[in-house]
Amino acid sequence: MFENLPEKVTIREVGPRDGLQNESQFIATPVKKEFIRRLVAAGLPHIEITSFVNPKWIPGLADCAEIGKEFAQVPGTVTSALVPNAKGLEGAKAAGLKEVSVFMSASESHNKANINKSIAETLRIFEELIPQIRQAGLAVEGMVSVVCGCPYEGAVEPRKVVEIAKTLLRYGATAIGLGDTVGVGTPLQVKRLLDMVIPEVGKDRIRLHLHDTQGTAVANAVAALELGVTHFDSSVGGLGGCPYAPGASGNVPTENLVYTLHGMGVKTGIDLHALLETGAWIQDQLGHPLPSNGLKAYLGRKVRAEQKATAAAS
Ligand code: HMG
Ligand code: MG
Repeated sequence: MFENLPEKVTIREVGPRDGLQNESQFIATPVKKEFIRRLVAAGLPHIEITSFVNPKWIPGLADCAEIGKEFAQVPGTVTSALVPNAKGLEGAKAAGLKEVSVFMSASESHNKANINKSIAETLRIFEELIPQIRQAGLAVEGMVSVVCGCPYEGAVEPRKVVEIAKTLLRYGATAIGLGDTVGVGTPLQVKRLLDMVIPEVGKDRIRLHLHDTQGTAVANAVAALELGVTHFDSSVGGLGGCPYAPGASGNVPTENLVYTLHGMGVKTGIDLHALLETGAWIQDQLGHPLPSNGLKAYLGRKVRAEQKATAAAS
């Protein structure tokens, strides 16, 4: 074990998208902008900044055009956004983005709940959309959701995930995202899934998007790391969730993943202290506690240090 650790891992921060899409209150656009600026300053190499979806479905990201325009080009940081269809692509292109993700699910019920289509209908749309995205000069990830289980149907066949991933690659997707949307996967399950996906997709084109509902996300990431996967999604503070996956928690907290990777000698290029400060800042802005235990531990240490300093000064 741990004989195949990579030297470096690339983390895509999805808090501004997966996190803020799930907040019950609309987060003001200037707060979103400051959040993304702080993430850039903390050294996040890739940030998913928003979604060009119907604002009636996802009201929290109704300011996608403004956020897209502001952060389409950030020197030293890749920025990307979700697009479900041609209308979304128009928005992303108008903003000037260079990378997008199309998304669908490996179960019929979640696909219908999330994007109002059957899997077959979605694939027909993507068969046209993905080549259009490529012709426009953008990179495109094909994100496949509910790969470890569906909130409506339960178990999901890994063969279904492989089949969809291969189809999206054939249409021209440049990467494949694998989403444990409900956060129910376990390390052995993730290994078995990747053992089937890697030979078809290639480990360098896979990005793992883990939610942390059962607290297994870091363990799942380590299992994937052992198999050579080096691209991961996470969100600071453990923000996030899919509005169409009832009961699911946020993404694996970025600070927990970074702490684990750095502790194992794997580089991320991320400044953990600046990241934790960003987590503390966005938690204050949102006005409710975030689930991350890494963030809780950091804030606890900070309070103790302040108490010590006050005691020493008095
Ligand atoms: P629909 O109602 O079937 O779409 O929704 P439609 O094509 O029939 O159009 C209906 C209306 O929507 C029209 O407006 C369109 O203009 C408008 P109207 O004429 O009624 O005023 N519309 C749009 N507006 C803005 N932007 C667009 C757009 N497209 C159509 N792109 C649709 C289909 C996909 C649009 C809808 O279901 C939708 O927006 N769903 C959003 C789902 C979503 O964002 N879910 C959360 C993200 S996915 C996730 O979190 C999982 C992930 O994290 C990975 C993981 O965890 O596994 C990525
Ligand atoms: Mg997600």
